[in-house]
Amino acid sequence: MRILYVVAEAVPFIKVGGLADVAYGLPRALRAMGHDVRVILPRYRAINGSAYGLRSLCPPFPVPVGLTGETRVVEAQISEAHGVPTYFIWDEYYFGRDRVYGYPDDPQRFVFFCRAVLSFIRHIDWQPDILHGNDWHTGFLFLWLATAGRWDRFYRPIATVFTIHNMAYQGITGDALLAFGGIHEHVERLEVEPPGHVNWLARGIAHADAVNTVSPRYAQEILTSEFGFGLEPLLQCRVDRLFGILNGLDYEAWDPQSDPALVARFDVETLERRAENKRAAQQAFGLSICEEIPLLAFIGRLIEQKGVDLLLEAAELMFARGVQVIILGEGMPDYEMAFAEWPARFPGQAGVQIGFDENLARLLYGGADVFLMPSKFEPCGLGQMIAMRYGALPLVRPVGGLADTVRDVAREDGTGFVFTPFTQEAFLAALNRVLDFFRNPTAWRAIQRRAMAQDFSWAASARAYEDLYRQAIAWHNP
Ligand code: GLC
Repeated sequence: MRILYVVAEAVPFIKVGGLADVAYGLPRALRAMGHDVRVILPRYRAINGSAYGLRSLCPPFPVPVGLTGETRVVEAQISEAHGVPTYFIWDEYYFGRDRVYGYPDDPQRFVFFCRAVLSFIRHIDWQPDILHGNDWHTGFLFLWLATAGRWDRFYRPIATVFTIHNMAYQGITGDALLAFGGIHEHVERLEVEPPGHVNWLARGIAHADAVNTVSPRYAQEILTSEFGFGLEPLLQCRVDRLFGILNGLDYEAWDPQSDPALVARFDVETLERRAENKRAAQQAFGLSICEEIPLLAFIGRLIEQKGVDLLLEAAELMFARGVQVIILGEGMPDYEMAFAEWPARFPGQAGVQIGFDENLARLLYGGADVFLMPSKFEPCGLGQMIAMRYGALPLVRPVGGLADTVRDVAREDGTGFVFTPFTQEAFLAALNRVLDFFRNPTAWRAIQRRAMAQDFSWAASARAYEDLYRQAIAWHNP
């Protein structure tokens, strides 16, 4: 199949969150199965063109904007550095900025990107069988193909799949962007859209041939008001087109046997070597160096979704239990400031680094005893899968992908620690269970071995996407 994978961020070029990892792993896995997958994203200024061999692909071409025949001329670039042909749309005004997201005109930037993607494929005359868009940034594609593009012989045969990575980000904007994107016919407002507004996540859900999210559990959860962020009525209408496919993990990129960022590499037979990584981590964060103290690590964005409030609230009682905790990540300034106070409040026990550092993250996966991920909600989550592969036992809530990947040690085949209510008490009770197991090295080793033996590689997920694409094509051309 010819598949165009449209996304706002992709490893190795640019990464804000887990979306970028998926945009790396899935296309590669599909390509390994023989599909002609190509990825397309904006060329942000932060992307280092020479590092990835970016080059111009074709002469600059016009992209229509508005309804009066106006155009903007953009450039398309390509990189083939990572096995999957990756296209970039470059427009200085929209993408020549320091960050990927976070600007007031984000909806306009991504509508423009989508419009450019549509012009681009026609320009290079590459007609995909499947257009696979991700998150609200690509919502415009689905509306456009269902309206303005509907009678065009080039676009009409293209079947579409829309993947939701997070219901919390919807891209709501004034409906003037419809005209900006070149949609001149009347567009019915969706019930979930406020009058005069467009919701781009909702548009992806409403118009794609097939919709999926990144774990089976999350696909169920988002049908409820607790997790649907207001779009549950729309999702319920489309439930026959809604699927859940668990993200994979790149087992080559994440391998404790060959990871150069580790002080000591190890596998399931040489787990005792993890102690060297633990020591190095304790040292790097100025903690007391001691094998017997349980070392807990949080690695991720410091945002409400990740359950960081719980860690902040429970801090006193958590540290009173004698554990060490390392926090590595960046996010909301309030959280950053609150965590930054920890090392002074809990000397020798708390280590905090604001900002992301991939090598340190790897050292922590390979050295920490426990991986903290007490998320409020979690569409899939990648950290818990990496942690299990590296023998750090996850402490999680049973939501979304965490529920689909971590089994509590109360079961014989348990791989981690699971607690349900989003409360300090429940969290601390789970921590007590962690400490009980930790005092029993034989039991702990057994759980580590089981966690490390899990298989979350991309191959199985890629096969599920292949089926979904076939289904979408069948729905599109009945
Ligand atoms: C979003 C979700 C995360 C998921 C990732 C990739 O970042 O918050 O749970 O793993 O997308 O799908």
